[in-house]
Amino acid sequence: MQTDNIIKKVEQFVKEEIKQADSAHDWWHIKRVCNNAKLIAKSEESDTLVVEIAALLHDVTDIKITGGTEEVQLHKLSSFLETLPLVAVQKENIVDSIAKQSFRKSLDGNQELSIEGKILQDADRLDAIGAIGIARVFAYGAAKGRELYNPQDKPQTRQSSDQYIKTGSTTAINHFYEKLLKLKDMMNTDTAKRIAKERHEFMQLYLNHFYKEWNGEQN
Ligand code: NI
Repeated sequence: MQTDNIIKKVEQFVKEEIKQADSAHDWWHIKRVCNNAKLIAKSEESDTLVVEIAALLHDVTDIKITGGTEEVQLHKLSSFLETLPLVAVQKENIVDSIAKQSFRKSLDGNQELSIEGKILQDADRLDAIGAIGIARVFAYGAAKGRELYNPQDKPQTRQSSDQYIKTGSTTAINHFYEKLLKLKDMMNTDTAKRIAKERHEFMQLYLNHFYKEWNGEQN
């Protein structure tokens, strides 16, 4: 099977798995993460096929997007990978990279990631910040029926991934403090660090404007 056909097959599988996703986690998110990953991979020594496949598949085991249980989704992912002409190390690398990339899991301590895993993690995190990140946080908040902002609801500090699942953000604005503004310092690669810095500054500027407008002040 040629690379193009492998990618097409992966895309088909992903589209089926994420068809119930909200607009912050839809096919366009997958596509953007894939593009980010390919961009970062240009400056890193890595297996680019593993990077691309892992980026396409990265949300397939996230049950807040797919529904079902993590066990079932992991099983689906492994069975699907068996149908692709990849060597065992590549398949293991893909599964491992996907399993360890999430922000929630990184709250439990540093995870050992392959370079392909690091690229994927950075690529997904870049899509959570900047102009796109802002659009996604409000889209996701709306899908969950959350307020844009509530001055009485303060951001929470969470200790572990379990707590992160249980509580969730109360407002879209709180999510900036609980996750998005932390991502800049969590990037692995130099390319992602550079892009993240600019996107971070844009979010800070956005928040300044948001509070001014919220309080009826002149800009
Ligand atoms: Ni994602």
